[in-house]
Amino acid sequence: MTSHILQIRDLTKVFDTDQGPVTAVEAVNLAIQGDEFFTMLGPSGCGKTTTLRMVAGLETITSGRVLFDDQDFTKFSTFQRNIGMVFQSYALFPHLTVFENTAYGLRIRKVPEAEIKERVGRILELLGLDVLAHRRPPDLSGGQQQRVSIARALVYDPGMLLLDEPLANLDAKLRVQMREEIRRIQKDLGIMSIYVTHDQEEAMSVSDRLAVFNLGRLIQVGPPHEVYAKPRSLFVSDFIGQANFFPARVVNRNGSGARVSLTTGLEIEVASSTPLPREEATMIEAGFDAVVMARPECLDLGQANSGGAPCTVRRILFLGNYTRYMLECRDSRREVFVDSPRLIPGIGEGCEASIAIPAAEAILFHGGADR
Ligand SMILES: Nc1ncnc2c1ncn2[C@@H]1O[C@H](COP(=O)(O)OP(=O)(O)OP(=O)(O)O)[C@@H](O)[C@H]1O
Ligand SMILES: [Mg+2]
Repeated sequence: MTSHILQIRDLTKVFDTDQGPVTAVEAVNLAIQGDEFFTMLGPSGCGKTTTLRMVAGLETITSGRVLFDDQDFTKFSTFQRNIGMVFQSYALFPHLTVFENTAYGLRIRKVPEAEIKERVGRILELLGLDVLAHRRPPDLSGGQQQRVSIARALVYDPGMLLLDEPLANLDAKLRVQMREEIRRIQKDLGIMSIYVTHDQEEAMSVSDRLAVFNLGRLIQVGPPHEVYAKPRSLFVSDFIGQANFFPARVVNRNGSGARVSLTTGLEIEVASSTPLPREEATMIEAGFDAVVMARPECLDLGQANSGGAPCTVRRILFLGNYTRYMLECRDSRREVFVDSPRLIPGIGEGCEASIAIPAAEAILFHGGADR
């Protein structure tokens, strides 16, 4: 188990392009420690790869700092930073065997032959590749090739492992299997890891903590369950998991929550449990536009006219362990989802129904909050 600490301070990257400067990463601050499995998550173009490349020394920094164990990382070359890297493209040498591909990093570090044999043998075994040691990459499956690229990144005992969408080329089933394997190996070796993906389910399932990026900025960092339950913006709530949005107007403020009126005039209480950024909290005042966010599993669907927001049931998807109700609701500009652990008696497709929004389960954002 390592006790390293990586600190990213005010990290900014501006690319000069023919069309003018492009800010790819803007004032990002992060600290990652020990054997943490840390994930950077966000839509395409939000700056994940650029951040990772600056940590690795593959990209220059426009401003800010990267410190590893309090040393200024930017003074070191990529090689000196002793980082293991795994990319979407496996980047293996096709003419070398699995053994030689894995041994590559040790050979350029001039490690003695006997030690190379021992270390490569050990890591290939850890990844279940020992039986394939003499094969060449073109004779391996995608999953096996990706495993070789992970073995190659780990064999020289790096201080940190960086993985940029390593599973993007694999089919869905193999992706699930491999992400579990990556996490197991990462914890076995106790190596700090930064994992980049735009797949929110992947991020939630493997990460100790995750960071949501948008437009080059870090929006929220936390353990997956916390980011899911307490998103700090509409963008995060929409990006992580499924979210329902109900436009509303604040009737009156009530502690950290409020009484709000939905489009149809229905008034509900929202006991927002998310501490809002200060500038947003001041916007939750009588008369202001707001948005109520609630997860599908937090809403209750009942008979029509039972006091909630009126809706029409468009589709019912029986999904085994839960049932998803897809609803048209005048209080929401888009389709509303309600997930129920059981089929709700008396509510079929085409029925009129009513959505109850429990105060404690809903989160209030001000109407102009970032998306
Ligand atoms: N070498 C470059 N020159 C100019 N602009 C660049 C360069 N590399 C990246 N960018 C821009 O910087 C922004 C961030 O790119 P980056 O590759 O970091 O995104 P990403 O989050 O990894 O996206 P994806 O999920 O698609 O891989 C994008 O707008 C991109 O077009
Ligand atoms: Mg990328």
